[in-house]
This record gives sequence, structure tokens and C-alpha cells, in this order.
Amino acid sequence: VFAPSWLFLAHADQFHKPGDFFTTYMGEDPVIVTMDKNRVIRAYLNSCRHRGARVCRADEGATRNFTCTYHGWSYDLEGKLISVPNKDGYPDTFRTSDWGLVEVPHIESYQGLIFGTWNPEPVGLRESLGDMAWYMDAMLDHDPEGTVVVGGVHKWVLDGNWKLAAEQFATDWYHVNMSHASALMILSPTGKKPKEEVVHRTGRQYVDPNGHGAGFPVHPKNRFDAQTVHDWMDYDALRERLGDARVEGPLTTGHATVFPNFSYLPVNGSIRIWHPKGPDQMEVWAWTIVDKSMPEDVREAQRLYNLRTFGPSGIFEQDDGENWSEVQKISSGFITNGVPLNYQMGIGSERHDGRFPGKTSELYSDAAGRSFYARWRELMSTPAWHEETP
Ligand code: FES
Ligand code: FE
Repeated sequence: VFAPSWLFLAHADQFHKPGDFFTTYMGEDPVIVTMDKNRVIRAYLNSCRHRGARVCRADEGATRNFTCTYHGWSYDLEGKLISVPNKDGYPDTFRTSDWGLVEVPHIESYQGLIFGTWNPEPVGLRESLGDMAWYMDAMLDHDPEGTVVVGGVHKWVLDGNWKLAAEQFATDWYHVNMSHASALMILSPTGKKPKEEVVHRTGRQYVDPNGHGAGFPVHPKNRFDAQTVHDWMDYDALRERLGDARVEGPLTTGHATVFPNFSYLPVNGSIRIWHPKGPDQMEVWAWTIVDKSMPEDVREAQRLYNLRTFGPSGIFEQDDGENWSEVQKISSGFITNGVPLNYQMGIGSERHDGRFPGKTSELYSDAAGRSFYARWRELMSTPAWHEETP
């Protein structure tokens, strides 16, 4: 699933000068993402060619080269092996040029989001996003300046398979009123939950054939929840740039997953990745991003709103994590594990509605979830490129 797919690596704003680096994972493979001397973003497997130790153990920073702390092999920003202690001890056939870091063969960006894939012959990133890009632009393309990262990356561990989170962000607005009832009451000016029926009937869920998904209420007056952010937004300019459908739909409240494990929440400015850590654990890495054109006080309002709602201890994030851990824990039962679960909601409802690109379903629907798992099953049952070669 992970090796042939485009995987989110980092935000472009994390790299400003040669040597800036960020370490992350592609599936469970550790990788270093860095800007080389020609200001090209590259990524390498974070594993020394000597005995396999990580050559970079820092989360992020700036460096001239990556030196393994085991025996001291050292690699430059282009991944070349440049220094080997006791090099004379190796045979004449030893060439440092044969032992550079393993490089991620394809890196592409979309609207400041950097993705990589191990697939030697991938479909291009933009093509694999398809109509999903239109929905992503509702968060990433408010103006020509794009987005920047505020603060660092929050990282936390959850008991639960990564698919529980990725699926929910693709398809599940259904849980909001139940799971987040208390959070919604706290945020509501009246102290009461909003009427879910209204939201349900007017919202849409984008269902992508490649397993991506996004859901959002549709309302002429959709707004950013953080008042300072809402006041700053120039909705007329946004309508001009992105069109009414996006401003009244996915621009503000909503959820989305780019298959397999990148998700985002527009109103929160939250982008996140669900790193798999074995079958029953995930590590969540979450960034807050804002429009680059936002002044400092608006950025701060967005940052605080995101922390309050979807930070590691956010009032919504806590509810979601609890659900995923619950489902994971129960599924280890011998009988429980074999019982089919229901994914029938909204079956057959996907259609081109003339307003939103691609096919959309009702807001309350499992349609994008079914598409997510169809893509997952397709990859699980298709030999990857390295399995095809004899
Ligand atoms: Fe890196 Fe030996 S494992 S130098
Ligand atoms: Fe939730």
C-alpha cells in the first residue's frame, strides 16, 4: 500500500536553505527530506549503507552532511558517501560511489505539500490527485502566496490501526454530532448542539476513484470558526478566486483524506499524517498551516483554535482517538475479529451533481470509505513492482 503510493513528506515552508532537513517516515521506512546545494528537495532512506543505522537522528534542523553515529560513515546533501573511517582497510574494489544513501526516486509538490513515492514509474502526483486537487485548493490556494507552517510538528501515539483515522477523515461526518456532542456544546454560543439534520441534508461528500475523500456542509454563509480568522477572511475575493461552490462548501468546515494516510481539516488549518506503527498502533504527526498573507494576530488565532480543537489534547481530537483505540482493542477478540461491519450508508448515491467536481454523495455516507477500502484492497492484491521482477 505505501511503497507504490504518493506519500506526504513535509511542507515546503520547512526548507529555506541548502541543508535544511526534516526526518519522517514513508510507511514504516524512515526517510530524510532535505534541500540540496542546488535548492532541490530530495529524500533519502534514513539508513546507513554500512550496518543500517539511521544517519540522522534529529527530528529537523540544518546540516552540511549526515554522519552515522555508529561507525562514522558520512553522506553529503546529495546522498553521496563522502567519508569512511579506515578506508584503507577496504579492498580496491570498494567505491564510495556505490554506497550512497538510497534515494526516493520521485518527489513532487502540490500547493506547497511535498510528496514522494518509491514507485519507479508512478502516475504523476497531480494526475493521481485528480478532482481531489479542486477540494484541496479550497484550503491551500486562498491567494497566490500559498500557505506557511506555524510552529512545529505535534507528534503523538495512538492505539489503533492507521486506516481507522484515514478512513474517518475521508468519509465520516456521521460521528460528529454523537462523538463530539460535548465539544459542540462548548463551542456553540447557545450552549446547544447544532441541528444535525440541516447539515446532513445540505452537505456533500466527495468520492474519489483513487481512494481520496472529503466531506463538507454546504451553506451560503459558511465561516471560519475562529472569530479573528473569520473577520480577516476576504470572502468576496475568495469567491472571485475559487468560485461560490468552494466558498460555500469545502473552504471552511470539513474533513479530507488523500489516500493513503494524509488528512486535513480546512477550518482548523490542520494537516496531518497517520504513520503506521505495526497493525495496531499509529503515530499522528500534525502541522498547523495558515495563509502566508495572514498577519501575526490572525495566525495566532488560527494556531490556538487548531490546538484547542485538534491539537494532541484538543476537545475533538480526544474524542476521535478514543473511538479508534476502542475499535482496535475490541477487534483483537477471536470472534469479534471475524464479524462483518456495516458500510452500506449512501450506497448508490454517488453522482455528478453539476456543482462539485467528480462524484459526490450525501454528507452522511460511507461512499468515500468504500472507495478508500477498494483502493486499499486493490493495492493489497496487486503485486508491487519489486514482486513482479523474478
Ligand atoms: Fe553507519 Fe556503521 S552503521 S557507519
Ligand atoms: Fe471527529
